[in-house]
Amino acid sequence: MSSTSTRHFLTLLDLSTEELEQIIQRAIELKEMQHGGTIHEPLKNRVLGMIFEKSSTRTRVSFEAGMAQFGGSAIFLSPRDTQLGRGEPIEDSARVLSSMVDAVMIRTFEHEKVERFAEYSSVPVINALTDDYHPCQLLADVQAYVEHRGSIRGKTVAWIGDGNNMCHSYINAARQFGFRLNIAAPEGYEPKREIADAGGPAITLVSDPVEAVSSADLVVTDVWASMGQEEESDTRNEIFREYQVNEMLMAHANSDALFMHCLPAHRGEEVSSGVIDGPHSVVWDEAENRLHAQKALLEFLIR
Ligand code: CP
Ligand code: NVA
Repeated sequence: MSSTSTRHFLTLLDLSTEELEQIIQRAIELKEMQHGGTIHEPLKNRVLGMIFEKSSTRTRVSFEAGMAQFGGSAIFLSPRDTQLGRGEPIEDSARVLSSMVDAVMIRTFEHEKVERFAEYSSVPVINALTDDYHPCQLLADVQAYVEHRGSIRGKTVAWIGDGNNMCHSYINAARQFGFRLNIAAPEGYEPKREIADAGGPAITLVSDPVEAVSSADLVVTDVWASMGQEEESDTRNEIFREYQVNEMLMAHANSDALFMHCLPAHRGEEVSSGVIDGPHSVVWDEAENRLHAQKALLEFLIR
């Protein structure tokens, strides 16, 4: 069972604002060290278990490379070739895996699964994306904002599109890092009511994307159909048509506004190539920061 001293990272609310800010600063330092060729192996002989029930490029490579750079290692586990996929209870898997590794990272569907795993795990559990949240991505996004523009506190962020896992994590980030968040989502695709309400007055829901991006310092979007919603793609493409982040929409944001997207992106759908490949976009730094931000998180949770 999880002891009260085992820290998990299932949502951004599991750490304090000070701890999150410390992780962002550490991520910036670790990035400089990595770029400068400094060898830093604080997790020698430590092992990260990585459970992936959904596809991934960035998350898998960043966690695996991060553990290798830290002197440790990572084990990739998919439902196809573990007993988890054959119905072994989460509670049993959590007890066994956590008796062998130093931390477990999970990407899955229901958020409740990572909560249950954490409850029975004796080592830190990291949410690497659920249907409801993607907190690791927010560490990378905030790091990218800080690197390009300084503190995000007091700034205005516009979320355009689906009220999905990334949107929910932006709501939590607004609470923790102290920025305003304007969300423009089509009717019926808004973020979950209880998550948005918990964000308090910093969160504004509108239906008009132009209103959402007005005086925004950062504009963010994500795919219209997330993993697990593939068969809704055609319907969603129709419904979300007015929510594309393109040059016309970006023109309503602040002139020095940044554009972010967690990737993978669909050019011509949620974002135009002119924006994602244009001057406002910092998506490549954002993606690279997954490595540095998660190394800072692993160092914080495991040591
Ligand atoms: N942004 C992100 O989590 O990417 P992957 O799905 O490639 O891991
Ligand atoms: N909302 C997307 C994010 C992918 C990183 C999904 O869940 O598929």
